[in-house]
Amino acid sequence: MKAYINGTEVSFEQGDTILKAAKRAGVFIPTLCAFEPLKHTPGSCRVCLVETTLPGGEPRIVTSCNTPMQEGMQVNTRTQKVRAMQRLQVEMIFADHEQNCSACARHGDCELQALAQYVGLEHNRFSGMQAERPVDRSATALVRDVNKCVRCMRCVEVCRQVQGIGALTMDGVGLEAGVGVGISPDWASSSCVQCGQCTLVCPTGALAEKDDTDKVLDYLDNPAITTVFQFAPAVRVTLSDEFGIPRSTDVDVTGQIVAALRRLGADVVLDTNFGADVVIMEEGTELLHKIQEKAPLPMFTSCCPGWINYAEKHFPEILPYLSSTRSPQQVFGPLAKTYLPQKMGLAPNAIRVISIMPCVAKKDEAARKALSSNGVPDVDVVLTVREFARLLRRQGIDLASLEPSAFDNPFMSDYTGAAAIFGSTGGVMEAAIRTVYAVLNGHELETIEIAPLRGMEGIREATVNLGEGNGEVRVAICHGLKNARVLVEQVLAGKSPYHFIEVMACPGGCVDGGGTCRIKNDYLPQAHVRQQALYSIDKKLPRRQSHNNPQVQKLYADFLEKPNSPKAHDLLHTHYTNRKSSTFRSVQELWDKLTLAD
Ligand code: FES
Repeated sequence: MKAYINGTEVSFEQGDTILKAAKRAGVFIPTLCAFEPLKHTPGSCRVCLVETTLPGGEPRIVTSCNTPMQEGMQVNTRTQKVRAMQRLQVEMIFADHEQNCSACARHGDCELQALAQYVGLEHNRFSGMQAERPVDRSATALVRDVNKCVRCMRCVEVCRQVQGIGALTMDGVGLEAGVGVGISPDWASSSCVQCGQCTLVCPTGALAEKDDTDKVLDYLDNPAITTVFQFAPAVRVTLSDEFGIPRSTDVDVTGQIVAALRRLGADVVLDTNFGADVVIMEEGTELLHKIQEKAPLPMFTSCCPGWINYAEKHFPEILPYLSSTRSPQQVFGPLAKTYLPQKMGLAPNAIRVISIMPCVAKKDEAARKALSSNGVPDVDVVLTVREFARLLRRQGIDLASLEPSAFDNPFMSDYTGAAAIFGSTGGVMEAAIRTVYAVLNGHELETIEIAPLRGMEGIREATVNLGEGNGEVRVAICHGLKNARVLVEQVLAGKSPYHFIEVMACPGGCVDGGGTCRIKNDYLPQAHVRQQALYSIDKKLPRRQSHNNPQVQKLYADFLEKPNSPKAHDLLHTHYTNRKSSTFRSVQELWDKLTLAD
C-alpha cells in the first residue's frame, strides 16, 4: 500500500500507524506517551500531531501514534499549523510541570527539555499553574516527584506489562493527575520491588534513584575514612553508554573505571566480580547439599534484590526455596570489613564500602537490617551507574579519555569468567554449573559455554549431565518478574520439574538493570549487545571457573576454611522475611483481571 509523507512516497502495511510508517521512512515525529516496546499507547500527550489529507478530503490534524495509514494519504509533519499545535501542546505540558530544571537529575538529559527545543519554545504563556504536590521520598532507593510527571504512563505500563506488578498507577484528575502508588499511602508501603525499570522509561525526572553522590564525596574528603570501592560485573559494559563510548560486543571499561576511581581519590579499588566468584562457591555448595540431603527443590538463586523483594512481598510461600547465599555485593561488604583489614592492616571501623551497581534495588538491599553487623551496614553507599557517571562529571573526569589502569590489590580484586557473566540473564546458572560439575567430578566440564542457558528468551531451561554416576540437573532461567511469576506459581502448585532456578528481576539481567543509562525514547535497545560483551570478557580471561580464582582459594584457606563453613554462614548468608500485605493481593488481582481483558 502506498501513501506520502512530506511529499515522498512510502509503502506501508495494513494496520501501520502513521508514526510507524514515518519511522520506517526516517521521518522524525516527536513522541512522549507512545513507547514502542510497550503494548499500550494511551494517546494522551498529543505531541505527535501531524496533518493528514485523504484523496478528495480536507486536511485534518491527528495524533500519529494511534492513527492508521490509509491508501493515498498525504501526511505532513512540519506544516505551520502542525508546528503551532505541537508547540501549544508542549506549553500545556509545561504549564503544570515543575520548572526548577537546574536542580533536576534529568537536566540536560530530559525528553521534555528536548521536546521544548524541538518545538522552539521561547517562553511559556501558561507557566505557574502547578498544583504543588509532596515529593515521595519514603522508598529506600527511589524518589517519586509528581510535580515532574507528564502523565505519559510509560512507568505504569512497564511495571504492569514487563514486571507484572502494577505498583504504579495514574492517580488524580486534571492538574492533580500524576504517577501514584494506587491505594498505598506511599511508595515504601506499596507492592513496588524497587527494580527501577520505571526510572529507565520515565522521560523526565519524575521517577529517579535517590542521589548519594554527595555522601561519597564527603567520604572521599575525610582523611579518617578508608574508602573501599567495588563495582558490579555489568557496570563495565554499561557505564560506557554514559560517556558516549560506542556500543559494541567488545566494550569493557574495567580499566577506565579503576583509573577513574584512583583519580577520585579512592583508597582501595576492588571488584564485585571477586564477590561473585565467592557466591558461586557458597551457592553451588548449598545446592549440592540440598540435592544430597534430598531437601525440597528447586533452589532459587538469591543474587538479585529486586527478585528477593518480589518473593518477600508477593510470594512469601516461596521463601524456603531461596538460596541463603547473599548477593555478590553483600558477600563483598562483610569481607571488606573483616578479611581485608586483617590482610592489609586497616582499621575496620574506618572502612566505608561504596558500591557502583547497575541496579536501583541494590540501594534497598544495602539498607536491609539482616545485612549489617552491630547496626553498621556491610555496604555503606550504593551508587547506580547513572549516579557514578554524575559523580565523575561533577569531578571533571571524562571516562572516555582515561588510560586504563589495572587492579593492584592481591586479596579481593581477581575474578574469573564465571563471575564476569553474572551480569547477564543465565550467567549465574552457567557459572554455578561450571563449579558444581568440577566439584562432583574432580575435573572441569568439557564445554563450559552452555548454549541453552544463553539468549534473551524470557524463560529458558536446560538439562545438564553432571558426570558419570551423578545424574542430571534440570535448570531454568527467567528474567523480568512477569516471567518469574510463571515459574514461582509452578513450584507452588507442585508442578516444577526443576532442581535449580535463576531469577533476575530486570529484563536481560543486570546489563539492563534499573540503574543503568537511560536511552531517550527507547527501552532496552542494547540488552543483547551488553550480554555479548560480558561473554567476550569471559572468553578472554585465563580462568573461567570460580573455584579456580586464586584469591578465592586464598580466602578459604586463610579465613573462611571452606564453603558453607560456620564462619562463611555467619558472614556470607542471610535470611528473608514475609512482607506481604493483604492490599498487595487485591491490587495484584485487579491487574490480573485487567491483563486478562487486554
Ligand atoms: Fe502520540 Fe503521545 S505520542 S499522543
